[in-house]
Amino acid sequence: MGGDVDVAFDLELPHGRCVGVRIPDGEALESLAQALRDEERAHAAAFGAPRRRTWIAGRTALREALARAGAEASAVLPDDRGAPGLPAGIVGSVSHKDRIAVGLVAREGAARIGVDVEIDAPRSIDIASKVLRPEELAALSALPAAARGSELLVRFSAKEAVYKALDPFVRRYVGFREVALTPQPDGTAQVAMHLAQGEGPFRVEVRWLRREDLILTTARVERA
Ligand SMILES: CC(C)(COP(=O)(O)OP(=O)(O)OC[C@H]1O[C@@H](n2cnc3c(N)ncnc32)[C@H](O)[C@@H]1OP(=O)(O)O)[C@@H](O)C(=O)NCCC(=O)NCCS
Repeated sequence: MGGDVDVAFDLELPHGRCVGVRIPDGEALESLAQALRDEERAHAAAFGAPRRRTWIAGRTALREALARAGAEASAVLPDDRGAPGLPAGIVGSVSHKDRIAVGLVAREGAARIGVDVEIDAPRSIDIASKVLRPEELAALSALPAAARGSELLVRFSAKEAVYKALDPFVRRYVGFREVALTPQPDGTAQVAMHLAQGEGPFRVEVRWLRREDLILTTARVERA
């Protein structure tokens, strides 16, 4: 593990070991790049600066999570769907925003996992009608107005985490309205699948939490 990594959190979650890394710029970013494997550094070199920065940080978070989970991995390059390609028996997922990157890792045979991080702050564009099903919109509008924005972000984030865990099974774009979520106060969520192509059945678990100004969601998917 590189000594220069600024770890924001390290959590043992129900779906895996989850490490958040603050994303630096300048020399500190180059120091993270130097700690990557040669193939990863070469892969990152093909990106423009903003994408290179988040990709390096995402790989750093993933590597930190792997090390903390006691799993070593050689270079983690994208698979043919864009997900991190990990050795058999280890699954993982990555998410990043401008200032934070998150890696989630677990030892799983048949299940897949996903992670998503969002900044828990009001958004200027109302994405509710694009992201939510009618029954979810109704549930949202029943909440106090001040709570709706953050609740929408929890649902949005959890759907992205579900997508990352589900894509290895369905290998297609899954629309936001193909999954309905009802977050529960205990950090779980009820999940109803409405897959347009009828794939499955799947057992889908979601967990969510708020931490500082972040919303962090994870998902675990396996064939039922
Ligand atoms: C792929 C997607 C989820 C990425 O989300 P995002 O908010 O743009 O970006 P994030 O930072 O959270 O995640 C990016 C990471 O997703 C991962 N990813 C990309 N494609 C993936 C796939 N097909 N399966 C699993 N993980 C994938 C990659 O690790 C990527 O980071 P990296 O390229 O640096 O390794 C999103 O762009 C998308 O296409 N969503 C599809 C629709 C959806 O979410 N539907 C929900 C209903 S299930």
